Amino acid sequence: MNRTLLIIKPDATERNLLGHIIGRLERARFKIVAMKMVNLTEPEARSFYAVHEGKPFIDSLVEFMTSGPVVPMVLEKDGAVTHLRTLVGATDPAKADCGTVRNEIGLDVQKNSVHASDSDENAAKEIAFFFDAV
Ligand code: RTP
Ligand code: MG
Repeated sequence: MNRTLLIIKPDATERNLLGHIIGRLERARFKIVAMKMVNLTEPEARSFYAVHEGKPFIDSLVEFMTSGPVVPMVLEKDGAVTHLRTLVGATDPAKADCGTVRNEIGLDVQKNSVHASDSDENAAKEIAFFFDAV
């Protein structure tokens, strides 16, 4: 079994889409092995997105990710990272494939409703960022 991290972003918690997203994940046969709701501080959001430091969208991204509660969760499935990225879709909801979560409920390239780890290595780091050993 492989693990990955998904975060429900503030635009989705604001629109009461937690149940919708969790339902999609469960129907896609992901096992939720840890989950919580948190309000990120600015330093926490900056640290989580350190890889994007220096990019033009980083300040706006940090502001967005601290604008409301987020729901990080650890998901388990064979090929978890790849399968979740496929289910989530491209960064820009307008360019994401039909049927993907972002195409269905994302608002724009920033308010795209969910985060998904992009590699096994980053998944392990991101899981450790939010959760003690799970
Ligand atoms: P994520 O990390 O959230 O799963 O998204 P991703 O891999 O598809 O995209 P990434 O390049 O890692 O960007 C992280 C998040 O930053 C915001 N973003 N805004 N304004 C922009 O051009 C822009 N580009 C990226 C999005 O919220 C994106 O998910
Ligand atoms: Mg990313």
